[in-house]
Amino acid sequence: MDKIITKNELATFKLGEKLGRQCVGGEVFMLSGDLGAGKTKLLQGLAAGLGVKSKVNSPTFNILKVYRIAGQKKSKSHAKVFCHIDAYRLNSGADLVSLGVQEYFNSSETVTAIEWAEKVKDIKPKGARIIKIKSRAEDIREIIIK
Ligand SMILES: Nc1ncnc2c1ncn2[C@@H]1O[C@H](COP(=O)(O)OP(=O)(O)O)[C@@H](O)[C@H]1O
Ligand SMILES: [Mg+2]
Repeated sequence: MDKIITKNELATFKLGEKLGRQCVGGEVFMLSGDLGAGKTKLLQGLAAGLGVKSKVNSPTFNILKVYRIAGQKKSKSHAKVFCHIDAYRLNSGADLVSLGVQEYFNSSETVTAIEWAEKVKDIKPKGARIIKIKSRAEDIREIIIK
């Protein structure tokens, strides 16, 4: 378990970027934290670290967005796609299963990240990384990664 304190949004972005660079493909990240905690900010960094070139926004109105990962010469990663899910409006994992997410979970070419993961914890895949973000003060966040 890692516990990291970030003091501004750039530090959270950079932490995400580092996580993204460490991915090899097949990872599933499950994020929890209140509105404004920084889940999307962390995942914008993660996407950048993976090699996503387009802008990553909160997918609240779409539930699920898929981004292409640009090939990086030095990268050993198999990941070709970043799947960003916002489970805020969902009631259980069944809602995600019907969208076909298990295909993403099982693919070594996909990195998946879920905001509001507590809503769909019934379908947490084995080996998923759990990330909890807590707001400690205006710009201070405590980020726990398991
Ligand atoms: N240390 C920090 N880490 C991340 N975001 C921060 C931090 N300090 C302030 N913020 C602000 O908090 C907000 C986080 O928003 P967002 O990432 O969309 O949260 P969430 O997806 O959890 O609702 C942004 O407005 C950002 O500027
Ligand atoms: Mg968000």
